[in-house]
Amino acid sequence: MKKKNVFVCEICGYTTPKWLGRCPRCEEWDTFREMEVKKEERAPKVPTIKRYSELKGEAEERIKTGIEEFDRVMGGGLVPGNQALIGGEPGIGKSTLMLQVADALSRNGNTVLYVSGEESLSQIGMRAKRIGFSGENVFFSPEVEVESIEEAIEKTGPSVAIFDSLQTMRICEIPALPGTPSQLKEVTQRLTKFCKSRNISAFFLAHVTKEGIIAGPKLVEHIVDTVLYLEGERNTSLRILRSIKNRFGSTNEIGIFEMREMGLEEVKNPSSFFISESTLESPGSVAFPHIEGNRVFLLEVQALTSYTPFGTPRRVSTGIDYNRASILLAIIENKLGIDLRTKDVFINVAGGIFVRDPSADLPVFLSVLSSLKNKKIGPKIVAFGEIGLTGEVRRVTGAERRLLEAKKLGFEIAVVPPLGKIKKYDIELKEVKNVQEAVNLLFG
Ligand code: TYD
Ligand code: MG
Repeated sequence: MKKKNVFVCEICGYTTPKWLGRCPRCEEWDTFREMEVKKEERAPKVPTIKRYSELKGEAEERIKTGIEEFDRVMGGGLVPGNQALIGGEPGIGKSTLMLQVADALSRNGNTVLYVSGEESLSQIGMRAKRIGFSGENVFFSPEVEVESIEEAIEKTGPSVAIFDSLQTMRICEIPALPGTPSQLKEVTQRLTKFCKSRNISAFFLAHVTKEGIIAGPKLVEHIVDTVLYLEGERNTSLRILRSIKNRFGSTNEIGIFEMREMGLEEVKNPSSFFISESTLESPGSVAFPHIEGNRVFLLEVQALTSYTPFGTPRRVSTGIDYNRASILLAIIENKLGIDLRTKDVFINVAGGIFVRDPSADLPVFLSVLSSLKNKKIGPKIVAFGEIGLTGEVRRVTGAERRLLEAKKLGFEIAVVPPLGKIKKYDIELKEVKNVQEAVNLLFG
């Protein structure tokens, strides 16, 4: 072993051979700690070289949990030896999800090791009881030192291991607190290597953190094969599991869940989760076939406008980008000549989902007008399309899939951009080239 000392920034992990007062990367002061780096001297190794025909078959078998929303995001089940990171804000439901996954795997006869540094075993026990856990083949361990964790893995020989959370775990020889960038990286590197060599499918849970001394999942994304984030607004029950990197599947997948009393429940039919016919009867409400990842489902865009005598009217948008909403309001003023200076405008996407898809422009635009004119669009009409700055309604991706989903849910008319030649789904198409045509059509 060769010994060498380096200085590591505790905030961002920047490494330098000399002590510095200020980190050149994250620009924080007095964050460098000295660390010993041990470099193993390796004897030259005979390299492994193979022909294509000798490579193991691509169709490796996957372990299914049976939780469809989860398996799909993982690319159709867990690949043995796959190393996955699950990030998310504290309290969003990571531990709950993984406890349910452990339970499901156990039911299918897989051995699981759940290492919990966040909660004591009795806390885990209580939570497990609450969600109706039976998990015969799940072992729990409260160890937080990687050396002990590795022993726990050797002792239990699991096919799946869950580490909850990365920020509580540490390697003894590294002179830094758990949760610091150096610990986070080293722990992940070491445990992924350990699990991979034993063909264990591992999950590393990590909290997304505000800036500060505790490091977040971003720091280790490059080390793992799969990166998932569990998202959702705190005060709504909707949770979306999203894959942003997957060496063994598509990164476009999402899983939709609802946080209930008994843990997370799969939302297999999101359209009926988000859409309510009764509110679509009201002015200001528009149905929108949304595409998120590889899923298509209907959402309800709502707007409320009200008179305000004060100088600066309020603009509030939840579920869609504020800047995007501002542009649409400017288009209403500029292209339709409607004065919004005395109108408060509130825009909301019902159900707690955040829409980044520009095809929500047309429904947002129509919902604001519908509220302004106090005239309903109606429960049988959907709309989608991007709106450009000159007021033109532009084509978006996935038109056919959107129409098909709308048709399935019983919608009869779709207000859309000019679509050219597309498959017909027995849903009446009202093509509009610009916002003026849309307004004439619906409010004319
Ligand atoms: P948790 O899984 O502990 O979040 P994380 O591990 O991401 O920090 O989720 C905690 C929240 O979920 C907590 O606010 C309580 C809520 N919850 C339920 O609503 N129902 C349940 O069955 C469980 C287990 C938790
Ligand atoms: Mg937790």
